[in-house]
Formats: sequence, structure tokens, C-alpha cells
Amino acid sequence: LAESTDSAADSARPITTVGVVGLGTMGAGIAEVFARHGFSVIGVERDDAAAERGHGHLTHSTDRAVARQKLSEEDAAALIGRIRVSTDLADLAEAGLVVEAIGESLQLKKTLFAALDDIVSPDAVLATNTSSLSVTEISTATSHPGRVVGMHFFNPAPVQKFVEVVRTVVTEPRVLEDVTTLVEQLGKSPVVCGDRAGFIANTLLFGYLNHAASMYETRYANREDIDAAMRFGCGYPMGPLALLDLIGLDTAYEILETMYRQGRDRLHAPTPLLKQMVSAGLLGRKTGRGFYTYEGPDSPVVV
Ligand code: 3HC
Repeated sequence: LAESTDSAADSARPITTVGVVGLGTMGAGIAEVFARHGFSVIGVERDDAAAERGHGHLTHSTDRAVARQKLSEEDAAALIGRIRVSTDLADLAEAGLVVEAIGESLQLKKTLFAALDDIVSPDAVLATNTSSLSVTEISTATSHPGRVVGMHFFNPAPVQKFVEVVRTVVTEPRVLEDVTTLVEQLGKSPVVCGDRAGFIANTLLFGYLNHAASMYETRYANREDIDAAMRFGCGYPMGPLALLDLIGLDTAYEILETMYRQGRDRLHAPTPLLKQMVSAGLLGRKTGRGFYTYEGPDSPVVV
């Protein structure tokens, strides 16, 4: 990805400072993408420990890019220098756009959006990276629902070149325009879609991932063969069980549950094994064990 410091200036309605709330896997990736493209980023976490973890995600990712000679040390330092990590939401007052990337809890998101609504300027855009909750419902927590939009990035956010921009029935056209322009400035393709659990990609993807987990659960095939079939037989970059480990089994379970509740499509009824693995703390790469076992978040599979 090329460093570009001037793209922030080309926005239809210039947005130069972007807030990101939640610096977990997705939030840190999103913060990195904006900083790489010249935006000033304010990342907010709930406490010092979480802020430190978030900062760790960011430096880990840029160190890795430097080690792979994709980024010079100076550019990496400049990129990190464009990101300020804070534990105070009030620091987002100057942001033209805030992207929320906290856990998939409707109540938490609504509380956060109500708070953001009081902090940011009246023309700032509020975006949620939710993968399955209702953007419309989240927007009702604000006094200006017309400025609320979904911005659904894909994991790993610095790599995947696609963002679903979710409009509610009241999202203002200028907000959609600003956000799609911004996504293009990040070197990604935006697609605008309506507010339905799962949007386009997850609706299609998660039925398949759930089916793969169920195939493993019923011992029809082992994990390596299930993954190999889709990688080598169908040309997918990863097999479904390895992908579930990357996404996180807790996130995958929540997405399936929400889609199933909303659409009642049995393809999305989470296979029981997923729930059991989540309860047992086998969440995938982030806890070191899911369908496979990992040495670290980027490590090759060990067992
Ligand atoms: N952060 C930053 N960069 C990363 C990265 C990360 N976490 N993981 C990989 N990369 C970069 C590498 O540095 C490398 O960059 P380079 O080509 O410039 O050197 C490039 O991505 C390829 O990485 P690797 O060579 O290590 O490995 P692969 O070629 O196997 O690619 C992958 C890894 C990008 C994860 C690829 O396997 C892939 O695209 N898998 C599918 C991922 C997918 O389906 N994501 C969508 C999940 S659904 C979702 O996110 C929706 C949500 O709501 C759940």
C-alpha cells in the first residue's frame, strides 16, 4: 500500500481527522488504513490496558510491514505518529468522521452513539463497523440519525480492498457520498447496500462457514481436508475453518445468531460446536486455539 499524505485533502467535504472507537483487531486495522492514507487518527479505547493493547496491534502490524520491506522505518514512524490513542471520547470533538468498532452489542453501541452525538460537531459523520446489527437501530440513539451510516470493513482491514457502506432509510445522500469518496481514497472499493443483517458478504459467507463447521462436527471430514477442498479445489485464499479462526469464533457465532434471528434461514442457525468452542474459550487465533492451534496471532499452524 502506497503512502499518500495528500489524499485527505481531496474529500468532497474534507474530512482530515478520523476517530476510531475500539482498537481490537478490526479497529486497529481500520485506524492503520486511515493513517496510511494521510488522515490524522484518534483511536479511543475504554481504559489504559485496552489502549496499550490497541497500540500494540498497530506497532505489530507496521513492524511486520517494515520487516517485509513494504514500508520504510521512517514511513512507519510517520504512520504511527498520525495516530493518537486516548481513553477519552471527548478527544473526538474535532473528528469529521468517527468509525465505531467495539464489540457486537446493540446496547453498548447505542450508548456509545448517544455519547458521540453530544461530542462531535453537527456535520460529522458517525459510522459503525457492525457486521450484523441494525444500523438503523443504532442510529436511533442519536439526535441526527441522517448522519449515521454503516462502514463494514473486512478482516484483515489493511489488506481487503472492499467496504460495504450501509445506508438506512434516513441516511442523508451527502453522507453516503462523503463516505464512498473516503473509501475510494483508502484504495478500496465501496459498495452501497441496505440495512439487513449480514449485508451482502456475510449473508453469503457465513452460511458456508457454518456448514463447514457442521461438516467437521459430524466428522464427515477432518479439518485439513475441509480446508484443502476449498483452497485447492476452489481457489479460496483460506479454508473455512482457518477463516473462522481468523474472524474469531465468538464474532462468527454472534453474526450467525443475529442473522438467524432476523432471517430465520436455517443455513445461519449456528452449529452447536461453535457455541461449545466459544464457551470453552477456543476463539481462534486471538486466544491461540480454535479449529487449529497457533503460536501467536500471525504464527503458522502448530497443531
Ligand atoms: N494485517 C496487515 N497485513 C496483513 C495481515 C494483517 N493482519 N495479514 C496478512 N497481511 C498482508 C501480508 O503482510 C501480505 O502483504 P504483502 O503481500 O504486501 O507482503 C499479504 O497480506 C498476504 O499475506 P501472507 O503472505 O501472510 O498470507 P496470505 O497470502 O495467505 O494472505 C490473507 C493472508 C490476506 C489473510 C488471505 O489468506 C485472505 O485474504 N484470506 C481470506 C480472508 C477473508 O475472507 N476475510 C474476510 C473475512 S469476513 C469479514 O471480515 C467480515 C466480518 O464482519 C467478520
